Amino acid sequence: MLGRCPVCGSWGTLEEEVSQPATPAKGVRQRSGSAVQKIQEVSVQEDMRLDMHCGELNRVLGGGLVPGSLVLLGGEPGIGKSTLALQVLMQLGQTVTLYASGEESLKQIKLRSERISGQPENLYIVSETSLEKILEHVKSLKPEVVVIDSIQTIGTEAVEATIGSLTQVRECAARLLQYAKEHNVPFVIVGHITKDGALAGPKVLEHMVDTVLQFEGDQHYMYRVLRAQKNRFGSTSEIGIFEMQQDGLREVTNPSELLLSNNRDGLSGIAIAVAVEGVRPLLIEVQALASSAAYGTPQRSSTGFDARRLNMLLAVLEKRIGFKLLQKDVFLNIAGGIRVNDPAIDLAVLLAVLSSSMDIALPTDCCMTGEVGLAGEIRPVNRIDQRIAEARKLGFKRILIPSGQKHAPVSSIQIIEVARVTDAVRMLFKQ
Ligand code: TYD
Ligand code: MG
Repeated sequence: MLGRCPVCGSWGTLEEEVSQPATPAKGVRQRSGSAVQKIQEVSVQEDMRLDMHCGELNRVLGGGLVPGSLVLLGGEPGIGKSTLALQVLMQLGQTVTLYASGEESLKQIKLRSERISGQPENLYIVSETSLEKILEHVKSLKPEVVVIDSIQTIGTEAVEATIGSLTQVRECAARLLQYAKEHNVPFVIVGHITKDGALAGPKVLEHMVDTVLQFEGDQHYMYRVLRAQKNRFGSTSEIGIFEMQQDGLREVTNPSELLLSNNRDGLSGIAIAVAVEGVRPLLIEVQALASSAAYGTPQRSSTGFDARRLNMLLAVLEKRIGFKLLQKDVFLNIAGGIRVNDPAIDLAVLLAVLSSSMDIALPTDCCMTGEVGLAGEIRPVNRIDQRIAEARKLGFKRILIPSGQKHAPVSSIQIIEVARVTDAVRMLFKQ
């Protein structure tokens, strides 16, 4: 037994895999019946997609669910994957759907469904851990959508490995893939993924499935973000936003309004960033707390924003503005439990830290967008017009943008171009 990976040197990461006797690769026989066709003669019917009756989900899928596709819905335990999957099926009305759970009994599923709104007429549920049995049900029921909750709790007789093991997870997915393609039935497979992704059986599935959707958010907040990490049938930059409520998930169509708190007046350490996730502009409240470190090494902690990037920005603050943060603890938080990947929020992060550190509040009618470079320069961002429009829509009077960036003329919001971090600092802290 090896406890340590001889390649990467990390402990406890090895997993046993049962090797299979040489059987012909699955799917090969079917494919021998394929036919070649001229590319211009292949018809593509866009309207083939199944409307999921959920705007946020449709968007992330790229305009609905493609029949015969395999969608992995991943996320940490307790984030709301089962709720989302069940709720979507419940809102499909007359469409025949099957929810197969290896985790919960029929009673438990029923109880969950009673908390969620929706009037399913043809939703069938089954509590089953055998893949073969689930596929038999699919064969006789002929549903238009099948949810398998979760891939770690079902197993196939074809391999002698424990349920949840890498071998089982992969084999089950391979069989589902084959079934989906042969019968043109879409499967949504739920997969638990831990924070570090290490224990993640579903990681190995990512290259097998057509679409990988990640459901994320902070369990202590209500907001959940559905993100396409891979999508053979759409863009991967889209996100869907939901709010977890007593009666299930509610779609959030105007996220900016929700993510901003109303009472920011006079509070230091808060800066409003205009971010873009996918093609959607979002106003984000960046909160920072910089306080003198009580003992020894100062702490740096970041929620919703890359910690290394925070360190980089703190270094820029020290070096380019001469602001000493060495002996300060710095905590950074993106309000609402949202995680932001857009580098355009850099400027807001930096100014929030500075604002907290000096205990001077930033003007509340001003928001900002701009990536910060190592030299303290403010770099251009994408979709600038959309960002400005969103800021204006939410009533901001001023917006800081990277200098020299072309934008359409706008009224009722003042556009302030800044070339360097020092310009922004001078601008906002001069009062
Ligand atoms: P769940 O869908 O079971 O998570 P997962 O399948 O990803 O493990 O969601 C669990 C949490 O959601 C649980 O803490 C209860 C909460 N919840 C609500 O707040 N409202 C609801 O209507 C439902 C069904 C669940
Ligand atoms: Mg679940």
